[in-house]
Amino acid sequence: MLGKEQEANFFKYRGVGFRINYLRISVTDRCNLRCIYCMPANGILNKPHSEILSFEQIKRIVKAAAGLGIEKVRITGGEPLVRKDLHLLIEELKNIGSLKELGLTTNGINLSKHASSLKKAGLDRVNISLDSLVPERFERITRGGSLNSVLRAIETCLSIGYSTLKINTVLLKGFNTDEILNFAKMAKARPIDVRFIEYMPTDLNHPSHEDLFFSALEAKRICGDLGRLAPIHSERSSTAKVFRIDGFCGTVGFITPISESFCASCNKLRLTSDGRLRSCLHSSKAIDLKSALETGASEEDLARLVKEAVETKPESHNLLNAPLGRDSEIYSMCQIGG
Ligand code: GTP
Ligand code: 5AD
Ligand code: SF4
Repeated sequence: MLGKEQEANFFKYRGVGFRINYLRISVTDRCNLRCIYCMPANGILNKPHSEILSFEQIKRIVKAAAGLGIEKVRITGGEPLVRKDLHLLIEELKNIGSLKELGLTTNGINLSKHASSLKKAGLDRVNISLDSLVPERFERITRGGSLNSVLRAIETCLSIGYSTLKINTVLLKGFNTDEILNFAKMAKARPIDVRFIEYMPTDLNHPSHEDLFFSALEAKRICGDLGRLAPIHSERSSTAKVFRIDGFCGTVGFITPISESFCASCNKLRLTSDGRLRSCLHSSKAIDLKSALETGASEEDLARLVKEAVETKPESHNLLNAPLGRDSEIYSMCQIGG
């Protein structure tokens, strides 16, 4: 294992004294939806199962990363719930004692069925993606998804007591920006945190970024119609700027990767479904941990590779000039997990 001094250095990334303590893991590149901004209408992007990390491999990587200071793990996809027996992975990760928080980001389609077993397995928090509250629009944006399944999942999660429930809404000009107040009102009577996300360009985007982009700062201004927005203190590394509207139980948050980049306080690493460790969502730099595992890497070897990823973390993304993946072998949000 690494010595104490090296571990301490790892925490002092860029010398600013905050830690890379968050690992996002895409457990599959498959999805049961095909959102217009994420997937092409047709054509299979999926890698064969043999190229996807096994639960055992994920566990080994998380153990090594936890030894270096990773405390928060978020399971993503594709759609993570299309991966069979996900609760078994959650159970395994929960057994890694030093992890403080285990979250899941899902489209919610199959969540009602699994919410309870995932909670029992040790899942702490759930974030649900939801881009329209109008059934026909939801169907159009997701190319066929059922809004009702997601609404049911939200009810299930609230009733079984997930401590916070976040709703992620990607702002899509011409598709859902007239629903901003309706989304914000979801936070009025219940402990729901609604977050408006600026759409980020990728090479797979259909239609183009220019046609879809809508600023989250504008969404914030619109939310002001519901009352005064009081800022809520959140961790410096939080992706969202969060506010409570007067009299609301939950909060509204604004994620602004384009109009106000938060790269300087980013605390994340990302593991793609095929086992590459990325230090930035938008950089093609990646370290192939799956191959390392398959050629006999020890926990110490893995830790060294994780550290290498941190050391090569870029200062910031360069999204508008070089959209995600232009120079990258792995380019889809569903392989990286958002
Ligand atoms: P919490 O732990 O609940 O705060 O979740 P999170 O915001 O870290 O994760 P979630 O999966 O809910 O992601 C919300 C949105 O923020 C998605 O659209 C992500 O792609 C985006 N996002 C998360 N982290 C980053 C990041 O480091 N850079 C950029 N550009 N976008 C990010
Ligand atoms: N821009 C912004 N958010 C995106 N997501 C997927 N693709 C994009 C994109 N191009 C979001 C999903 C989900 C989260 C993991 O990432 O809607 O909430
Ligand atoms: Fe699936 Fe999420 Fe991509 Fe939509 S955004 S197609 S739900 S992976």
